[in-house]
Amino acid sequence: MVTLTHHLFLIRSVYYPMSAKKIATRLAHLGNHPHEHQGVINPPVYHASTIAHKNLDDLKTRRKSGARAVTYGRDGTPTTFAFEDTVTDLEGGFGSITVSSGLAAIHLSLMSLLKPGDHILIADTVYAPVRNLCNNVLTPLNIICEFYDPTIGASIESLLRKNTRVVYMESPGSHTFEIIDVPAITNAVSDRDIVTVFDNTWATPLFFKPLSHGVDIVIHAVTKYLGGHSDLMMGVVVCNEQTFSQVRRYCSLIGQSVAPDDIYLAQRGIRTLKARLDVHQENALRLTDFLMEQPETIRVIHPALEDHPGHTIFKRDFSGSSGLFGVVIQPVDDIALAAMLDSLELFFMGFSWGGYESLIIPYDINQHRSVTPLKDNGVLLRIHAGLEDSGDLIDDLTSGFKRLRAARLT
Ligand SMILES: Cc1ncc(COP(=O)(O)O)c(C=O)c1O
Repeated sequence: MVTLTHHLFLIRSVYYPMSAKKIATRLAHLGNHPHEHQGVINPPVYHASTIAHKNLDDLKTRRKSGARAVTYGRDGTPTTFAFEDTVTDLEGGFGSITVSSGLAAIHLSLMSLLKPGDHILIADTVYAPVRNLCNNVLTPLNIICEFYDPTIGASIESLLRKNTRVVYMESPGSHTFEIIDVPAITNAVSDRDIVTVFDNTWATPLFFKPLSHGVDIVIHAVTKYLGGHSDLMMGVVVCNEQTFSQVRRYCSLIGQSVAPDDIYLAQRGIRTLKARLDVHQENALRLTDFLMEQPETIRVIHPALEDHPGHTIFKRDFSGSSGLFGVVIQPVDDIALAAMLDSLELFFMGFSWGGYESLIIPYDINQHRSVTPLKDNGVLLRIHAGLEDSGDLIDDLTSGFKRLRAARLT
C-alpha cells in the first residue's frame, strides 16, 4: 500500500535532486522547475480558492493521492509547495507547513502536540510572545508550562515529568543570546515520548541545523531572514518524519493558510539568503568591535565572541552568526538615550529584525523572564546589523555616542 509517508518520500526523491549540492547552489535552484512552466525560472504564483476537478473519478480520488494533491486553495498550491520543498531541503526535514506568521508557526506546532494535562518545558529566554502564548492560551487549557534555564544542558532530565510532552528551545535566546546545548537536551529526552521544538529564526538553516542535532520540529519566522526584506509576515514549521502528519493534519483542521504573493516574496527572498547573511554576519562583528571600545559599554552580547558564556557550544554547533546581538551600556536616563537614538540616521527603532536595514532598540528584558533575570545594571540595546556599509553604520553610532555623552553632561 502507498502510505502518505511513502508518497512523500517518492515526492522528495523526485523534487530533491539538489540535496547533495552545496547550500549556495541549493538556494539558487530549490523549488524551481522551469521546464514545467515553459522555461519560466520562478515558480508561478497560483491565486486559487476553487480547484476544478476533471471528472467524478478525479473528484473522488484526487485528495487521496497525497499531500501534494491540489484540491482546495487553503491546503496549498504549487506556489506553496515550492517554498515548503525549499525550506524542507535546507533544514534536512521531512516536510514543511507554511503559516501566516512566525508566532502562528509556534502556536501550530505546540497546539498540534499538546493536550490538557500535558507538561511543556520552555527556555526562559524565548521570544516574549511565546511566554504570552503559554500564559494566555496553553495554561487556561490546563497545559502545564514550566520555564527552564537555557544553559541547563543534560540536567534538563531533573525537570522531566511523566506527562512532559514537549521541550521548546530557542537559541541564541531572544535579546540576551544564551546558547542551548541542543544535543545534551535531545539526548536527555530521546528515550521518552517527548517532542523537541526549536526556533531557528536567528541562525537560519545556513548556520545551524537543529534536526541534525536530534530536534524533531524546527520553526522559522519567515518574516525575518528567510524573507529578508521587511515586507512580509509568514512562518514555517519544518518536521521530521515522525511529527509531520500530526502537524499537517492540525494545520488543515484549524484552516491556517498563506496568500500566494507572500509565499512568492519569501521564495524570492530566500534565493539571496547566503549572500545577505554573510554581510549581516560581517557587519555585526564589525559593530561588536566598535562597541567594545566605547567607554559606556559594559558588555557586548554576541555568541561568536570568545567571552560569551556559550561560546564553546556555539563554536561546536553553529557554522556562523547572523546580524542580531546585544550590548549593555552604563545606566542612562531616557533623555540621554533619546539624544543618542532619536537622531540616528541609518538605525531605525523597530522590533521585527532580519530585513536589510539596521535596527536598534532598548529593551527591558526582565519583565519577560522568570528563571534567568539579566543581572547587569545598565541599558540593554538590541542591535540588528543590516546590509549597509559597516563604516557608515559605525559613523552613525559614533555620532549617537557623542550625543549621549553631551546629554549626560547637561
Ligand atoms: C525568534 C523569533 N521567533 C519568532 C518570531 C515571531 O515571528 P512573527 O513576527 O513572524 O510572528 C519572532 C519575531 O520577532 C522572533 O524574534
